[in-house]
Amino acid sequence: MANPRRVAVVVGSLRKGSFNRKLAQAIVAGAPAGLALEIVEIRELPLYNQDDDADPPAATKAFRQKIAAAEAVLFVTPEYNRSVPGVLKNAIDIASRPYGQSAWNGKPAAVISLSPGAIGGFGANHHLRQSLVFLNMPALQQPEAYIGGAADLFDESGALKKPETKQFVDKILAAFATWIERVAAKPGA
Ligand SMILES: Cc1cc2nc3c(=O)[nH]c(=O)nc-3n(C[C@H](O)[C@H](O)[C@H](O)COP(=O)(O)O)c2cc1C
Repeated sequence: MANPRRVAVVVGSLRKGSFNRKLAQAIVAGAPAGLALEIVEIRELPLYNQDDDADPPAATKAFRQKIAAAEAVLFVTPEYNRSVPGVLKNAIDIASRPYGQSAWNGKPAAVISLSPGAIGGFGANHHLRQSLVFLNMPALQQPEAYIGGAADLFDESGALKKPETKQFVDKILAAFATWIERVAAKPGA
């Protein structure tokens, strides 16, 4: 079997008890054989400053390198004020520069939004997709992943409690694995 695809998982929350982090960890633990998923942390990143492009801070360099080394990116994010949390947008901006050297360029992506609310972070999911268009990251279209009711999804160990949520997440990951291969077969198409 071919080597599994290296997938960077970027979580849009810094909160200790983050539901999104729990979901990302559950996804990493239960990933299909064709995907090697790893959470790439955004916690230590400074606020992006274009003045730093010529000589970026160490955390910025390390983050850019990790994204550059990945073959695909899975975003797992909450919604803040109907958009993407600032920490996630900051991370996206950081790895997008210097101009012409974006680490995101051409990498297939998937977006899962997760919220305690009923609409599952739809606004964040779609604002993020707007950035992905400009970043030239072909994003998985279907199935869409807006997951609501986050407060009831996890047991005390952080595992997904409900079989239907697990099945849905497995379906997303299987579709993403197929999507990654499609993009790899026709890059730039
Ligand atoms: C600044 C802020 C804005 C928020 N705005 C939204 C929102 O627009 N939609 C929503 O569903 N939840 C919103 N929430 C609630 C978050 O979905 C909730 O705090 C969630 O647990 C955050 O994800 P996490 O558990 O992964 O940290 C907001 C929370 C904060 C702190």
